[in-house]
Amino acid sequence: MTDKKTPHSLPLSEAISITAQAVGEVMSGRSLTEVLDQLEPHERPIVQSLSFDALRKWVRSHELIKEFIPKNPPPEVDHLLSVAIALFLNENADGKGYAAHTIVDQAVSACANYDKTMYAKGLVNAVLRKVSLIVQPPEGEPRFPPDPIPMFVPSWWRANLKRHYSKAWQSILFAQAKRAPLILRINQKQYSRDQYQTLLSELGIASTPIEDVAGVKLSSALLLSNPVPVSDLPGFYSGAASVQDAGAQIAALLLNPQSGERILDACAAPGGKTAHLLELANCEMVALELDGDRLSKIGGNLDRLRLHSDKVQVLRGDASKASWWDGIPFDKILLDAPCSASGIVARHPDIPFLRREADIKSLQQKQRGILEQAWKMLKAEGLLLYVTCSVFPEEGEEQAIWFAAEHGNAVRLGAPGQILPTDVSDGFYYALFKKNGP
Ligand SMILES: C[S@@+](CC[C@H](N)C(=O)[O-])C[C@H]1O[C@@H](n2cnc3c(N)ncnc32)[C@H](O)[C@@H]1O
Repeated sequence: MTDKKTPHSLPLSEAISITAQAVGEVMSGRSLTEVLDQLEPHERPIVQSLSFDALRKWVRSHELIKEFIPKNPPPEVDHLLSVAIALFLNENADGKGYAAHTIVDQAVSACANYDKTMYAKGLVNAVLRKVSLIVQPPEGEPRFPPDPIPMFVPSWWRANLKRHYSKAWQSILFAQAKRAPLILRINQKQYSRDQYQTLLSELGIASTPIEDVAGVKLSSALLLSNPVPVSDLPGFYSGAASVQDAGAQIAALLLNPQSGERILDACAAPGGKTAHLLELANCEMVALELDGDRLSKIGGNLDRLRLHSDKVQVLRGDASKASWWDGIPFDKILLDAPCSASGIVARHPDIPFLRREADIKSLQQKQRGILEQAWKMLKAEGLLLYVTCSVFPEEGEEQAIWFAAEHGNAVRLGAPGQILPTDVSDGFYYALFKKNGP
């Protein structure tokens, strides 16, 4: 038979094969973002979608693989099966799943695309036929029950959540196992949220305003009822809107930038929050980033959003050191610190596979180093907003308590603290400090 074409005209069998290899890369420690960045543009959307689903459904797919192949199959076959089984377990973006026979046919064809799976056609065929009877039973027979364990996290990760959130830990994992919705931040320098919502609805794209997260009023967040490619968004390439989680949109609002203020975004790439600050006020901005590859993304975003000016400096530098600093203190500092990213698993389902327990301690040290240095660069009466996209208190509240204890001139102001993941927000931590005197 001929391959079924995906919406991006990559045959499904090829997409399965590329995805299985991408999943293999994640299992050997590479970030999925990095792997996806190396694909051809026409491969990326479908491989991203299939790999996200395969990682989200890892626990269930491996229960099924174990049931039918009690001795572990070679990793390449395991990865291909996990991608195919996830296709049975998930619906497509349009709400419809692939027919069982299509998944089996395409997965068997996918075996031929890679020399390490070529021999396994018979095995893949047999296993997927059995799986299909369990997950897509004939009309009228009950479907398998929902997953009791929503998604893979390592045991130390689960223990951490249970220790800190004895009631909420399961709901955190369930919220993160869902596909994250597409949320926009409307560039207020170009459109009000109402105006942009009208533009979207004229194109048949339904959206709803998100009014607040954790009690902070949002002015620019729109939730799309169904995700669309950014190329379908009106004015996207001239900067009308950006894709940004609603929980991330409160950072700039808490810092409340004013025209003329000198602001440091200490860990800025890819520049989502830098851009939001500049959309809200004509401030003097230093966007600092350690990683050279990521630094270039800040410039790209500011170009698209038409936010470059002679008041905006994008610098490569280490925020835990002063070597890049001209010595002029800042009115406000946004410190969106490097962290475990345990709060954004819904958008990065490879994270639980990549993190190690020891990372948390070393990230804590890095965060403290940056906090210490940033505080020295803040004016008296200035504000520092400490942010992480983590749900581990070691990177959130414990850091804020440590910081306030170390700095007698740090006054804590109102901020949401720990935000747990919901349907419209990833997990974040926010603490706001005012510098009381020099
Ligand atoms: C959570 S991300 C920032 C996201 C960004 N604020 C946004 O909203 O688009 C943290 C960033 O800090 C950078 N980083 C890590 N250590 C750093 C350091 N010592 N100095 C400056 N940037 C650092 C990382 O490369 C990463 O890009």
